Amino acid sequence: VIDIRKLYGQTGKFTYDPGFLSTASCQSSITYIDGDKGELLYRGYPIEQLAVNCDYLDTCYLLLNGDLPNADQRANFHKRVLNHTMVNEQMQFFLRSFRRDAHPMAVMTGLVGALSAFYHDSTDINNPEHREIAAIRLIAKMPTLVAMAYKYSVGQPFMYPKNDLSYAGNFMHMMFATPCADYKVNPVIERALDRIFILHADHEQNASTSTVRLCGSSGTNPFAAIAAGVACLWGPSHGGANEACLNMLGEIQAKGGVAKVGEFMNQVKDKNSGVKLMGFGHRVYKNYDPRAKLMQETCKEVLTELGLENDPLFKLAMALEKIALEDDYFVARKLYPNVDFYSGIVQRAIGIPVQLFTAIFALARTVGWIAQLNEMIADPEYKIGRPRQLFTGAAARNVK
Ligand code: ACO
Repeated sequence: VIDIRKLYGQTGKFTYDPGFLSTASCQSSITYIDGDKGELLYRGYPIEQLAVNCDYLDTCYLLLNGDLPNADQRANFHKRVLNHTMVNEQMQFFLRSFRRDAHPMAVMTGLVGALSAFYHDSTDINNPEHREIAAIRLIAKMPTLVAMAYKYSVGQPFMYPKNDLSYAGNFMHMMFATPCADYKVNPVIERALDRIFILHADHEQNASTSTVRLCGSSGTNPFAAIAAGVACLWGPSHGGANEACLNMLGEIQAKGGVAKVGEFMNQVKDKNSGVKLMGFGHRVYKNYDPRAKLMQETCKEVLTELGLENDPLFKLAMALEKIALEDDYFVARKLYPNVDFYSGIVQRAIGIPVQLFTAIFALARTVGWIAQLNEMIADPEYKIGRPRQLFTGAAARNVK
């Protein structure tokens, strides 16, 4: 690790690295990715083991505290989170001021930022107690806010959380129950959703996490910093890819499905077309994204459980993947499916509307953003983030 401040001094030479292709923005001990091997570890634990042996709240505890909880810690943490699932009743009025057809990510950016207007005892980012309660509140309230955004968009009454359900089960209840009909949580679907949350919980210094760190480095409050992360995640090159991927599959399906895959791939390979194979490629993974493997398995389990084994979009996705993995264009560029390639198919099968996919990603990633923010603030050497530039504009001149 080279600290260039020590080599060159604060105002000496600096690196120019657009897109941070080879510049570390921080030191971190939370998540490790080996992109060549296709390996992902949270606090040292392989994602494959966490996905099978732990639930999302265990994973949250791990990311926040550095280790998996023992039985008491687990019970206490689950209880604390579930005690904070309700949101201030006044937030309903704020939500109701949005158009019903607003994109859920537009709504979420507003709602998450607005939490700082309601929970004043957790807005001092430099106070560890404030940060701790803000973390619990954010993790607990994100499912409630996403479900409220959904219910509002379809004109149904909001459903209050039911704290005797699991984290994922409670989210499904708030999404799909109505005051007229209970929703019976299917354990296979509940587990699949929980796995989606685990796989999206953290991914080191991606664009949204770096945004949260940069935003938090100014000393703003935790809710504002997480709202900045939500806004960044929305883009189709990042978290918005799950929505874009499902829309892409829908378009190919409408044009003829599997029979049209070859034609679509030719378009993708034509650099002038501007068409990308959404859900493929990653800045760090130059091998199969381990989350995509797990997501593909989950996809099969969910489709089988729901009797949708012949789902045409799943077949289409498999056909696209098969061709891409054998095609020189993708092989030469080391382009493999990423986590978003199959997650949309699972969510759609569960009954989640496409527009909500990225909001669910934000829900799951909130814990990673918080863990990274806490790590930065707790570092005695942390400074406000302030990138340098290479100035290419006009030299000094006089107004005549
Ligand atoms: N389809 C077709 N070609 C692609 C794709 C793709 N999905 N991804 C990359 N390429 C090509 C690029 O055109 C480029 O080709 P070139 O060398 O001939 O110019 C080469 O592969 C390298 O790609 P870059 O864009 O330089 O890679 P970068 O690391 O900057 O981008 C990114 C990574 C943004 C994820 C990109 O692969 C992409 O846009 N993928 C589709 C969107 C997507 O799925 N995003 C989700 C990422 S995972 C997440 O955020 C949860």
